[in-house]
Amino acid sequence: MGFVDYLQDELDDLREQGLLRESTGVATQGLDYSSNDYLRLAGGAVSRETPSIPTGAGASRLIFGTHEQHLALESELALWVGADSALLFSSGYAANLGALGALGRQGDIFLSDELNHASIIDGCRLSRASVLTYRHCDLDDLAQKLKSAPPSRKLWVLTESYFSMDGDGPDMAALRQLCADADAGLYVDEAHALGVFGSAGGGLCAAAGFTPDVLVGTLGKAVGTHGAFVAGPTVLRNWLWNRARSFVFSTAPSPLLTAQSRMAVAEVIGAVDKRSRLLSACAAFEDALSGAGVELSTRRFGPIFPIRLGTNDAAQGLAERLLSAGFRVQAIRAPTVPTGTARVRITLSSNTTDAQRTELVREIVAYQQTLPNGD
Ligand SMILES: Cc1ncc(COP(=O)(O)O)c(C=O)c1O
Repeated sequence: MGFVDYLQDELDDLREQGLLRESTGVATQGLDYSSNDYLRLAGGAVSRETPSIPTGAGASRLIFGTHEQHLALESELALWVGADSALLFSSGYAANLGALGALGRQGDIFLSDELNHASIIDGCRLSRASVLTYRHCDLDDLAQKLKSAPPSRKLWVLTESYFSMDGDGPDMAALRQLCADADAGLYVDEAHALGVFGSAGGGLCAAAGFTPDVLVGTLGKAVGTHGAFVAGPTVLRNWLWNRARSFVFSTAPSPLLTAQSRMAVAEVIGAVDKRSRLLSACAAFEDALSGAGVELSTRRFGPIFPIRLGTNDAAQGLAERLLSAGFRVQAIRAPTVPTGTARVRITLSSNTTDAQRTELVREIVAYQQTLPNGD
């Protein structure tokens, strides 16, 4: 069989399982309740202040691709999250692949939350560390596994601070203590927390009063541009500069975009009112959903609201209904989430309105009433 027929068969299989993803085209339809643009900064146009900055870096950072904009943004990001230094990557996916691949060496152990993002899982696979998982956000299970882990050169705990498919996260202060007691390094991906939590939007570690050993942040979510960074001690930056393959063997980020990101980061840090408006709206939406009998996990907080439906068809059905009612939301299915836990993921942003959220609750409840028991 030629590869075209073979791939078509595989795609047909996915369709039969309700797992086929098709290009959604350009997102124009409906109010955006699905993106990670929590502070509504992604729509910004190119600033008039940047005309002389090159669009392309022309080479990797190691081969003269470094521009003053990269160094300036790295210093500003490090300051923002309370680290000594930061290193830019082309995306959060590349940051996790590069950092974990560089950190996890033969004889090391990664203890990874079972629901960590695909980029953390793939970074673990690229590393030479032995990888063990612990139950999602379960610090008792983690403590147990830290105690019983086989002897290692270096033990690392890997987690997100705010999980993008569940809207929850571990108790960061307790996690930090646990790692300190076990002499384990703490690696935290703050992709969905940066800009949203903490007094200057510095994330959930900052809100808990500490900087982890390694902090991954992305610029494509609340910051509203593109790219990512890994922050930590200067020795970490130096190590990644030498050993993070997705950094070493990749063209440096666009200097023009980097300049835009600098302005966006400054805006995010100052967006105190937007942040508090967003978090108040989140609390009100949670109350409204719970009041209407829509089940949410007790651990959930912040702008991400997973409405669990279980089956792929039920989740797809709710997403379609909400789209017809004017809300752009996404059904999330396996393998993004475990099989049987399909959901619709609603994300609030700072420009959500009371009227829109009331309508959303009404539509969700009406849809749930159409489902047979158990769905
Ligand atoms: C926790 C986490 N880490 C990393 C990434 C990847 O970031 P990027 O979109 O910049 O590649 C995401 C994005 O979905 C994420 O949710």
